[in-house]
Amino acid sequence: MRIFTETHFYIPQNRFSCMKAEEAKKRISELTKQLNQHNYDYYVRSAPVISDYEFDMLMEELIRLEHEYPEYARANSPSKRIGGDLTKEFPTVAHTVPMLSLANTYSEEEIAAFDQRVKKSLGDTVEYVCELKYDGVAISIRYENGEFIRAVTRGDGTKGDDVSANVRTIRSVPLQLHGEFPPVFEIRGEIFLPHAGFKKINIKREAEGDDLFANPRNAASGSLKMQDSKEVARRPLDCIFYNLQGDDLPHNNHYDNLMEAKNWGFKISDYIIRANSIEDIFAFISEMAAERSQLSFDIDGVVIKVNDYTKQEKLGSTAKSPRWAIAYKFMAEQAVTRLLSVTYQVGRTGAVTPVANLDPVLLAGTTVKRASLHNADIIEKLGIREGDMVVVEKGGDIIPKITGVKEELRGKDSKKIQFISHCPECGAVLRKNEGEAIHYCPDEDHCPPQIKGRIEHFISRRAMDIDSLGEGKIEILYDHGLINNAADLYKLKYEDLLGLKKVYEAGEGKKERKVSFREKSSKNIIAGIKASLEIPFERVLFALGIRHVGETVARILARHFGSIDALAKADKESLVSIHEIGERIAESVVKFFNDQNKLELVSKLKEAGVQMEIREEESPAGNILDGKSFVISGTFEDYPRDELKDMIGHYGGKFTSSLSSKTDYLLAGDKAGPAKLENAGKYNIPVIDLDTFLDMIK
Ligand code: IVH
Repeated sequence: MRIFTETHFYIPQNRFSCMKAEEAKKRISELTKQLNQHNYDYYVRSAPVISDYEFDMLMEELIRLEHEYPEYARANSPSKRIGGDLTKEFPTVAHTVPMLSLANTYSEEEIAAFDQRVKKSLGDTVEYVCELKYDGVAISIRYENGEFIRAVTRGDGTKGDDVSANVRTIRSVPLQLHGEFPPVFEIRGEIFLPHAGFKKINIKREAEGDDLFANPRNAASGSLKMQDSKEVARRPLDCIFYNLQGDDLPHNNHYDNLMEAKNWGFKISDYIIRANSIEDIFAFISEMAAERSQLSFDIDGVVIKVNDYTKQEKLGSTAKSPRWAIAYKFMAEQAVTRLLSVTYQVGRTGAVTPVANLDPVLLAGTTVKRASLHNADIIEKLGIREGDMVVVEKGGDIIPKITGVKEELRGKDSKKIQFISHCPECGAVLRKNEGEAIHYCPDEDHCPPQIKGRIEHFISRRAMDIDSLGEGKIEILYDHGLINNAADLYKLKYEDLLGLKKVYEAGEGKKERKVSFREKSSKNIIAGIKASLEIPFERVLFALGIRHVGETVARILARHFGSIDALAKADKESLVSIHEIGERIAESVVKFFNDQNKLELVSKLKEAGVQMEIREEESPAGNILDGKSFVISGTFEDYPRDELKDMIGHYGGKFTSSLSSKTDYLLAGDKAGPAKLENAGKYNIPVIDLDTFLDMIK
């Protein structure tokens, strides 16, 4: 996925500062057109014609012009794809045409019965359209004169939430149509997360200590309700359209209109056929059932629709669903087996997950022995007891889950599941926050999986990258009492490691005791630990595993504060005042540095020589500019603008592209933008020239 990041930009030189308003307006319009087309080529046609770099250049140019000439910035500018608009509360909007749901069935007989009903009412020649049933979140988008106006969720079918700012960030949703579109219409479709994007999000959430999404649908619907559209823009959501509503649609049937909509810029599935017989319908169903596992996104069935609009109208709708369509849902692959016992796993963040141990059973080609039970509320809701025969399901890529219980098969010796009250690993009394479903072990300093989990995170590739160590070796070192936290790694000596073996608990003794630390691997480990002393501060900050501080946030904090000491002193207010940092992250950072044990860990790491500040070559002059924010306008002989931008960052200042009352200096060169100069006057912002700037950093 092509994700625009503002950080790797080179700003084009000498081009716009002298631009007149009229020229700027024209250029904004050209760029908008080009970027819309490139987005369409990339995300809808999957056939990009320019490189990501060229795309980024055009986008940067547009953003700059829109900052400079906000009067020409459009609500549907392609720059909205990056997000930025915040929605505090999503307004409720009534649907002009209700968003009905579909009648569902799992049986082919019922599809045949549907066909009979339709034919009874319409006569014998009926054309159907068969398409996929996408498993995501329904959305209705209104277009007027080819412009995206509003995107509303299904809600209760009569009214939904206006989630326009978030939907604008979805690259495959056109903001400006092309071709010959009707003046006003609504188009409905499904927003979803492809499997690859879902996995990526969960990997990131795991690294940041956030709860994982159970499936792509939950992730998609959660994303649409986020307040910060910038955050939504980072999620690789996609949208496929399947229904048009309007008075001036070009054709009187569903299929032709969908094909037409493709020409206006919408993403329409390739898996769509016209069917003239029940045999055609069944053939499509079995083809798609076979194809399902190969698709890059989740579907949960096939939808069959009467094609002709006049015929649709004749059939009409019930209160809930149209009589002219039906969904054939694929059965989730299921198996029934016995629940032998429930055990509990404790993760790096202390979250306790109940795990079902099952009598091994074949499901979708693999033998399933364990399944997640998620949390105490779900166990309660399902009413499962140990010893019960339970229903296990596997859908898409997701780990198998228990979805039901065969109460009629319950034996006398079934046992109620008593959710544990104490941590199975360290014995601490578990905690459950009001309104949350998850139990936590609060004793993070003594609970082995939490301790080992934190060390595993510390050494991971994107953190300290000590790849000679891994989960298994960490466990051995911990079990031998050699490490209890990340700082202990730096005390390890070659002699400590050589010859170490896995420690087996009583009863496990028959297993072969293999030496895990031979000469070569022990040497590599010591070398890897030493090399990690060179890992830059921003990755060290990520490695510390502060909750909600992922790689990006760690980088922002590292660059903003420059050192761990400065960060440790920051209070919530100063953290929240940083553009990308929200309350949740700020609270978590403050909590971390209020914890005596964490402070001790930091100081031991520091003693060991781990980078706890940005180094000379990363920021030679430290903090001379003291976090002051600079806007640059105009051109400077010998100093390209991106070099100045780097210098500002180098010396501890902040570069921002648009001027506001919070700007500290306007650095103005030749032909500085009149709008910027005027605004600087209005806000009383000092306007400095290049010499003054160079003096400041001398
Ligand atoms: S047509 C009046 N077509 O299924 C019928 N819906 O239960 C309007 N869905 O809320 C819906 N794929 O979210 C239609 N190809 C498809 C679909 C589809 C998924 C969803 C949609 C709707 C629900 C209906």
